[in-house]
Amino acid sequence: MKHFINLKDIPAKDLREIIIDAKKRKSARKNLNHLEIDKGAPLKGKLLIQMFEKSSLRTRLSFYLAIKQLGGSALTLRPDELHLSKGGESIEDTAKILSNFGNAFMLRTDSDEKLEEFKKYLSIPIINGLSPSSHATQILSDVFTVEEIKRKPISKLNISWIGDSNNVLNSLIAASIKFSFRLNIGCPKKYQPNKKILSYIKKNRNRIFFYDVAQKAVADADVIFSDKVISMNDKVNKIRKLNHFKKFKIDKKLMSFAKKNCIFLHCLPRGKEVDEKIFSSKQSKVWQQALNRVHVQKSILLYCFGKLG
Ligand code: CP
Ligand code: NVA
Repeated sequence: MKHFINLKDIPAKDLREIIIDAKKRKSARKNLNHLEIDKGAPLKGKLLIQMFEKSSLRTRLSFYLAIKQLGGSALTLRPDELHLSKGGESIEDTAKILSNFGNAFMLRTDSDEKLEEFKKYLSIPIINGLSPSSHATQILSDVFTVEEIKRKPISKLNISWIGDSNNVLNSLIAASIKFSFRLNIGCPKKYQPNKKILSYIKKNRNRIFFYDVAQKAVADADVIFSDKVISMNDKVNKIRKLNHFKKFKIDKKLMSFAKKNCIFLHCLPRGKEVDEKIFSSKQSKVWQQALNRVHVQKSILLYCFGKLG
């Protein structure tokens, strides 16, 4: 049994194996409908319990389809209907019940500590479905999407990030270290990652560069990533922060500094950080990106159950 919380804590070899498995599984079910089950139903009889303490559309749907396609089932708990928070039931007791009734637990939360606390008491795998410090399932899936579209190992590509230093970027930084790809980060100086992330970058051999001019960050890019400037529960002066990012909008002019065949990716939901014309252009691969989460999360589930490959 394995947990899937942060990319930085998972060996690069395991991450690569997940991607290889996802590729095989995706191509093997080309002609199947969403609810048809993969050959061999590797997670037959297994129950994935998921809980979202913050909003979600894609993660919720993609984990549901992922476990279904592997032959198992999913149950989504509403945090306001549990005793856990207001009712005063402990994480320890909740975790024991989850472990007795289910086979894996996927949690989206506003607390990294809560994920660690659950991990301590669960005897089933826990998967991080987004936390303040990481969005690991999203970024592993995005590495898959980049390689699928570009038909090259990501280590041979220039990846750019234009946006805030948030959970998604933290996972992209970890991915850059694990998969050894060049990552150019473009954001105002004030919004560069915190000390903990900068020291993680420093401690590991890396190809990560910071720019406070968007055009420099996207120069020669094969892929441009972005995300909302204001994340969920971001407790900032929103108008001021959006103002600081004014020069970091992804539009036709900015895209012209990247390679001609550069693609645009965004985990969604979007804000105003990307121009509508770019978002709906051929260069934008956001719908393929979103759907690929099903395929990669299936392999993440198999990894957690020790059933990969
Ligand atoms: N990208 C992503 O995680 O989307 P949701 O918040 O809708 O799950
Ligand atoms: N950074 C965003 C990602 C949403 C999927 C957030 O945390 O709100």
